[in-house]
Amino acid sequence: MYWEALSLEDMNKHIHLALSHNVRYSDDTVMGYPASFLDRVVFPKAEIDQSSSFWKALWENPNHIGCHTFGLSESVFEGTHKIERDLLRICAEELLQAKPQQWDGYVASGGTEANIQALWVLRNYWENIHANIHASARSKRRYAQELHNAMTIISSEDRHYSIDKVAGIMNIHHELIPVEETTRRMNLEILSNTIDAETSEGVKFFAIVLNMGSTMYGSVDDVDAVVALFETKSVEFMIHVDAAFGGFIYPLVSPDNKLNFQNPNIISFTLDAHKMLQAPYGTGIYVVKKGFIESVLTKGASYVQGQDCTLSGSRSGANAIAVWMILRAYGSKGGSAFCKDIWERTNTLCQGLLDIDVSFFREEYMNIVTIASSCISRSLAEKYHLVPNCHDNPKWWKIVVMDHVDKTVISSFLFDMAHEDKDPGIVYLPNAGKKPLEN
Ligand SMILES: Cc1ncc(COP(=O)(O)O)c(C=O)c1O
Repeated sequence: MYWEALSLEDMNKHIHLALSHNVRYSDDTVMGYPASFLDRVVFPKAEIDQSSSFWKALWENPNHIGCHTFGLSESVFEGTHKIERDLLRICAEELLQAKPQQWDGYVASGGTEANIQALWVLRNYWENIHANIHASARSKRRYAQELHNAMTIISSEDRHYSIDKVAGIMNIHHELIPVEETTRRMNLEILSNTIDAETSEGVKFFAIVLNMGSTMYGSVDDVDAVVALFETKSVEFMIHVDAAFGGFIYPLVSPDNKLNFQNPNIISFTLDAHKMLQAPYGTGIYVVKKGFIESVLTKGASYVQGQDCTLSGSRSGANAIAVWMILRAYGSKGGSAFCKDIWERTNTLCQGLLDIDVSFFREEYMNIVTIASSCISRSLAEKYHLVPNCHDNPKWWKIVVMDHVDKTVISSFLFDMAHEDKDPGIVYLPNAGKKPLEN
């Protein structure tokens, strides 16, 4: 894994040059687009720091509509499209071990959109392949409907709720597989029974979503075990990895990350730069192996050069630039050191919790620590703004060790935990702070 770190000065030069290769509403004669630089009353040009490439890009407002890794795309913004391609290359080839140039992708609005895009692509890819083989035999439309009904989405119960949204939007059956309490990985016996039951109902294709850092626990699914099980069944399957949480830490910290593009069954990934990478919101990332994204090419997007293989439509070029700048400011060495520091702080927190006998879940190479609600009062959890698994009756409270969660905050939290006024046997009422339940 290697990508070069650039100085702020070099990045600024690079971006200013890229912007100069775009069409510019302020300098060029541009009459065909429903867009301009940012509003002159609210964002006067004189107030924009022209030496800062990000603010300049935000003001110039390039549109990154479409996909810039497949076929043609809008030539008027080619300057900054190149920057998006470079950030996607870093994600696909360096973080996730794709073969050189054997991937496509784009910067989406967030993890939710990237997950929807991923399952949309898998569904269409599977339908197209089979419909193209059998199209002459039957009406394509009816056959596509049959294929649609023969597909099931599989995920663990710890999946992000965006997967439920995709299943709803596409009207595809979704099976949630319960997890083992200690590992929070799918229970393989239940998974096996589910595949058999689905197959007996005519299901032929499984789109599997695996977690690289589940939302509540940071858990990472065991891809080898899942693939080994599916290979014993006569079904087709493809895997999408939801790495919205873990994508910018797990591959940088874990010495043995098996969730990568070298696995022939893994087709695509979601990453979120607006989580661990601290980029502005609106920076989900979708990357997929070559040969898949064209399954969702929308030919009706005829006014867009190269048409459109993304769910988004218009999207912010400045956001792509922000992600690129963060990746390039650190380089692979600096990025790994940053993540390692966060990981070590998470270790300190966990050791402190172990010392005071607190029950928690933590995936070894992640920065999420999820504390059993029986070990912490609601008032203390709320003092530190921990996030519950559900607001009405929490069983778990989550800590995410981010950049601002420094050693001082961790020490203060551990001190408060150790000095909570807890009598043995007290059960905390979910909504009543530290009031004991009366038997
Ligand atoms: C694992 C996972 N996937 C997807 C998402 C959705 O991301 P977004 O909120 O960017 O749409 C989240 C958000 O927390 C997540 O944790």
